Amino acid sequence: MLRKVCFFKTLTPREINQILSIARLKRYKSGDLVFMKEDIGNNFFIVKSGRIKIYTSIGSEKKKTFAFLKKGDFFGEMSLLGGKVRSASARAVEESELLVISKNNFKELIRQSPDFTLKLLYTLANRLNKTDKEIESMLFHNILGRLAEAIIDLTKDNHAKIIKIAIDQNELAEYMGTTRVPVCRAINTLKRSGVIEYRRGELTVLSMDKLRSISGNAV
Ligand code: CMP
Repeated sequence: MLRKVCFFKTLTPREINQILSIARLKRYKSGDLVFMKEDIGNNFFIVKSGRIKIYTSIGSEKKKTFAFLKKGDFFGEMSLLGGKVRSASARAVEESELLVISKNNFKELIRQSPDFTLKLLYTLANRLNKTDKEIESMLFHNILGRLAEAIIDLTKDNHAKIIKIAIDQNELAEYMGTTRVPVCRAINTLKRSGVIEYRRGELTVLSMDKLRSISGNAV
C-alpha cells in the first residue's frame, strides 16, 4: 500500500519496512475522534484507508476544515516537531485505518531516513503554500471566487472524466471557513451559470475552465 502512494513512492523497500515495523494499526468508525485540538501530541499518523477531517472549531457555530486526508496522507507531525499540543482536531469521516507511530519512533525515522524527511518537508511546504493562498483568498476574493477555489482544491486528485464530489453545504461552508447561507447563494449562482450541478449533496463540475476563471478573476 505504502509503495503505491505518491508520498512514499521514492522510499526504498528498507525504509518502507522500517515504517511498517514501528507502526501499529488502529481502526476508526465514521465519526470517531482521533484527537482534539490542544491535546498533547504523542503520535504520528499515516492514513491507510478512509478519510480524516482536520478541523478547528470555536464554540459550536464557528468551524473551519483545513483538509480532508486520504490514503497515504499523514498528520500529527506538527505537535511532535515543536508545538507540543495539537494545532487542530482530527476525526474520521468514513471508516478508516491509521498507521500509528510513537513520537520517539517518528523522531528516529527523521534521523535515519533522509528521503522520509524530505517528503515530510515537501508536504509541509505544500500545506503552507495552500494556507498562504487561502489567506489571500479570504482577504481579497469574494465568496464566488472562494467557492470556485474550494471546489478546485477538493477535486484536485479526481481525474475522472466527469468530476463529482459528495459534500453537503455545511461541509463546504466549514471547508471555506464561512456559514451555509452565503455558500448556498454562491452555489446557486454557479448552477445558474452552468459551471456546476449540485443535487442532494453531490456536486458535479460542468466546466473546470469556467471555475478556474472565476477563482482567478473574482477579486
Ligand atoms: P498536529 O498539530 O500534531 O495535530 C493536528 C494536525 O493536523 C497537524 O499536526 C497537522 O498534521 C495537521 N494539519 C494542521 N493544519 C493542516 C492543514 N492546513 N492541512 C493539512 N493538515 C494540517
